[in-house]
Amino acid sequence: MAKKKKFKRKKIFLLLFILFVIIISIYIINLVNSNNYKLKKIGYNEEEIIEIVKDKDLTDYLLKHEYDELYLKIVNTKDYKFKNIDKYINYYKNNSNAPLNDIVYIINNDINKEYSENLISILKHKYFIKDRLDRYLNYLNKKTDIDDVIRDVNSNLDYEFYTNTKKTDLSKDYLLIVNKYYYLDEDYQNSNLVTMESNYTKVSGAKLEKKTYEAFKKLSDDARSQGYYILNNSAYRSYDTQNNLYNNYKAQNGLIWADSYSARPGHSEHQTGLALDVASASTTLTTFENTKEFIWMKENSYKYGFILRYPKGKEYITGYNYEAWHYRYVGEEVAKFIYENDLTFEEYYAYYVEKNS
Ligand code: DAL
Ligand code: ZN
Repeated sequence: MAKKKKFKRKKIFLLLFILFVIIISIYIINLVNSNNYKLKKIGYNEEEIIEIVKDKDLTDYLLKHEYDELYLKIVNTKDYKFKNIDKYINYYKNNSNAPLNDIVYIINNDINKEYSENLISILKHKYFIKDRLDRYLNYLNKKTDIDDVIRDVNSNLDYEFYTNTKKTDLSKDYLLIVNKYYYLDEDYQNSNLVTMESNYTKVSGAKLEKKTYEAFKKLSDDARSQGYYILNNSAYRSYDTQNNLYNNYKAQNGLIWADSYSARPGHSEHQTGLALDVASASTTLTTFENTKEFIWMKENSYKYGFILRYPKGKEYITGYNYEAWHYRYVGEEVAKFIYENDLTFEEYYAYYVEKNS
């Protein structure tokens, strides 16, 4: 009986022992299989592991790769995204001189170009337009200052005037652009042209687009109430009118002169019905600059939605000599923005109108 009891105890002890061994084995197997353990074996330290295991994808990724401090450096960059990790690594392999933050920026923005400081300055420029990247980079052969490169390419100055011309996008309405690159068809005519009343124009029968005319009337009335006389001197011009004008200038003064004062047919803002040349009661176009009306226009026209379209100092962007008299209607909000930021319409159009279409 005592023997039987002893045997039973032995059996229980054995079972407990086996159970203990099983539990310990499971514990050890689990430990060895744990991500923390594996990461440690790969070479990551405790602190790093705490951070890594917070991200399941990253943990799985690192477990499949040998230790490389580059991974952690990339993970610690400001804008790191796990989905791009292979791309960062690849980019780094081919551009090991590039700062990691820049690599992350380049890849996150899906840019496929070799690294350079110029590249990153272009990409981070306020007025950078992605689909012009090749053009900016090519233009670096001509200019080195990144502000210049961006401004010029945005204004299409990397193309010669009247080359690479493009039909303008009429759907932009009051923000449509017409210049030495963007043109209007020969038969284009704004469908809302209205004839100006005689007390707003020095030339009878002049026409402007309706809203442009309303804005100009308001401007002219307000100016008049303050003692300034601002009148139209030339508003809408058809393609044929512009053609005659341009050809006369060319015949009289030569091509270069004509091109710096007058638009070729199809390329004149006057054909849009949204632009006009102003004069005071007693002046012509060229003497307008010397009037008090000119100063009033310069300071106030934006409040009515007009911009000075060919400003001084920006000739090289607009492609025209300074014209103190030529105003373009773009609406109050845009006119104010252009005025306050000292932009040409070329620059504004590229970045704020065309880029987003
Ligand atoms: N004078 C301006 C540029 C025009 O001819 O439209
Ligand atoms: Zn004009």
